[in-house]
Amino acid sequence: MNSKEMAERISTLNRRDFLLASAGGALLMAMGGFPRQARAAVHVLPPLPYADNALEPVISANTIGFHYGKHHKGYLDNLNKMIAGTEYSDLPLEKIIAATAGNADKTAIFNNAAQTWNHTFYWQSLRPKGGGDPPAALKQRLVAAFGSMDACKKELAGAATSQFGSGWAWLVLEGDKLKVVKTANADTPLTKGMKPLLTIDVWEHAYYLDYRNRRADYVNAVLEKLINWEFAAKNLG
Ligand SMILES: [Fe+2]
Repeated sequence: MNSKEMAERISTLNRRDFLLASAGGALLMAMGGFPRQARAAVHVLPPLPYADNALEPVISANTIGFHYGKHHKGYLDNLNKMIAGTEYSDLPLEKIIAATAGNADKTAIFNNAAQTWNHTFYWQSLRPKGGGDPPAALKQRLVAAFGSMDACKKELAGAATSQFGSGWAWLVLEGDKLKVVKTANADTPLTKGMKPLLTIDVWEHAYYLDYRNRRADYVNAVLEKLINWEFAAKNLG
């Protein structure tokens, strides 16, 4: 493997993995250190948990292609560029989010870190042939908290459709209470002492190619046909 091939290869690995995995690390260091693109490749884009057309007809492969391949990847690439060589370069995503939240000087890093995390969480909040009834233990908790499953879904849909502009609707655990909350732009319940259980992305890029301005139709279709209650149950623990 020549140095160019090696540089391409390590752009897909994080730096620590590379140091552990590559017998060529010492050689590259001797050649003047890691290439710039390798230094920036701290965070990697997790694979989608399903094929890009697996959520059709509710969300098209076209939407997923842009949303995952351009928007999610864009946040991640921006983050990697911004944190290269800074005190954040070796931190896990959650720690970058916690360290930059509410810091006016670090808004750009926070936005890209939080959007990277939020999107990875969103992909898992959906699944092909989702919707339906949650696992029994979660359903019991949801019915106790909201009165019924319909009321729970109505509250999620209400948060998702009433979020003004870009943002997210979430089912969260706060203390021992299940709640629905909404956040604007990149904001995430992670920084508010809440444990996210599932989320719906209501940025226009999540639905505009398929639904144009009909956000409520996207939200209701997601809740009926894609929402991944098993993921929420797993997060609830
Ligand atoms: Fe998004």
